[in-house]
Amino acid sequence: MTRTCPAIPNQATLPLLDDRSAAWKIIHDAGDVAVSEDGTYFLIGADAVESAAKNTEVFSSEGAFALLGSPFPLVPIAVDPPEHSRYRRVLNKFFSPRSMAEHEDELRRQVDELIDGIMASGPVCDVVSALAVPFPSQVFLTLFGLPLKDRDRLIGWKNAIIELTDTHAVAESTPESLLVAGELLSYLADLIKQRRVAARGVDLLSQLLADRDEGAITDDELMGMCFIFILAGLDTVTSAVGFALSALAQDADLRNKVRSDAAVAAAFMEEILRVESPVPSVPRVTTAAVDVDGVTIPAGATCWLMMGAANRDARRFEDPHLIGERRTGHFAFGRGPHRCLGSHLALLELRLVIEQWLTRIPDFALESPPEVIWPSATHGLRRLEIRIDV
Ligand code: HEM
Repeated sequence: MTRTCPAIPNQATLPLLDDRSAAWKIIHDAGDVAVSEDGTYFLIGADAVESAAKNTEVFSSEGAFALLGSPFPLVPIAVDPPEHSRYRRVLNKFFSPRSMAEHEDELRRQVDELIDGIMASGPVCDVVSALAVPFPSQVFLTLFGLPLKDRDRLIGWKNAIIELTDTHAVAESTPESLLVAGELLSYLADLIKQRRVAARGVDLLSQLLADRDEGAITDDELMGMCFIFILAGLDTVTSAVGFALSALAQDADLRNKVRSDAAVAAAFMEEILRVESPVPSVPRVTTAAVDVDGVTIPAGATCWLMMGAANRDARRFEDPHLIGERRTGHFAFGRGPHRCLGSHLALLELRLVIEQWLTRIPDFALESPPEVIWPSATHGLRRLEIRIDV
C-alpha cells in the first residue's frame, strides 16, 4: 500500500540565506521524500538519498543530465554504469591523492601570491573575488598546463556556462551568455588541436590526449570531460573556501585549534563541506517505478537527491547543525559510482587556502554579513568581506 507523497516546501521562500539550520529543518519536516506541484520528487532523508545514489539502474544520471542539452557527452557525470566505470578507470588515476600531491608546492605558491594581493590591498577585502574565485580557476589552468593569464577569461566563460545550465537560477540566460559559452568551446577545441600536433607535456590534457590516441576516449568525450571539470570543479571549491573562511572569521577558538592541529583542520574541512554542502542536490530520472519510504515514484520522474538535507539528517549525524570534531560519511561529495572525481583535489585546494591564510593572517573578522547565493545549483557566497587588521 503506497502513501500519498507530501508536498515539498517552496525552496525559494526558505530562510536558506540567513538561517540554514532552520531551512533544512523545514525540509526534513516534510518527510524522507516529497514532491513539487510539477511532479518533481525530492529525496530528503539520508537513507533515501544513499540508496537512490547507489541504485543507478533506476535512478539514472543519463536521463537527468540530458536535460542540459550539451553538444558533448558529459563524461562521466551523465553516463550510467556499467559504461560509466570505463571512464572512471581512465580518470581516477589523474585525480588520486598521489597525483594531486605533485601539484602541492606550486599551488601553495599561488595561494600565497593571492594572499599577498589581499594583504597589500587594505584592511578590508572581499575574499570571494580576491581568492575563492580566482584560485580554483588557476588550479584548472595549472593542471592543464595553460598560462595563468587566461584566468579571467576562464572565469567569464565559466560564469556564462553556469548561467546557461543552472536550472535553479532565477535569471534567464541571455544570448550573450550563449556566445561566451561558445568561446570556451572554441578555446578548448583549439587547445586540443594544438596539443595533438605539438610535443606533449605531463599535464592532464596531454595525458588525456594519450588516452584518446589509444582509443580509450573520443574527441567529443574529451571535450565533454573538460567541460565537466569546469562546471564541477570551480564554483564548488569557491563555495567551500568562502564558507570555511567565513566560519573561521567568526570563531577565534576554532581558528587557533585549526591552525595548531592538522587533524582538527582536516575534520573542520569535512565538517564545513557537510554543513554547507556546496552541491545541495543532484538530479536523476527514474527508469522504472520505485518505492521510496512508502511513496511510489513513477517511471520517468525527475528526482533531486538532496545531499544538503542528507548531511543534516539527525538520524545520521548527531547535532547535525553543529560543526563537530570527529565525524565521517558526509554526503557533500555524493555517494555511489558518481562520487566526486575531484574530491582529493578539492580537499587539497581547501587545505592550502586554510593553512596559508591562518599562517599569514592569524586574526581576522567579518566586516559585514556574508552574502549567500540562493537559489543556485551551487550553494555559495557572493561576497565575504573580511577585515584583516584586527
Ligand atoms: C568542494 C568541492 C566539490 C564538491 C562539494 C563536489 C561535489 C560533487 C558531487 C556531490 C558530485 C556527485 C554528482 C552526482 O552524483 O551526480 C560530484 C561529482 C563530480 N565532481 Fe565534484 N565536487 C567538488 C569539487 C570537484 C573538483 C575540484 C572537480 C575537478 C575535477 C570535480 C569533478 C567532479 C566530476 C568530474 C564529477 C562526476 C563524477 C562521476 O560522475 O563519476 N569536483 N562532485
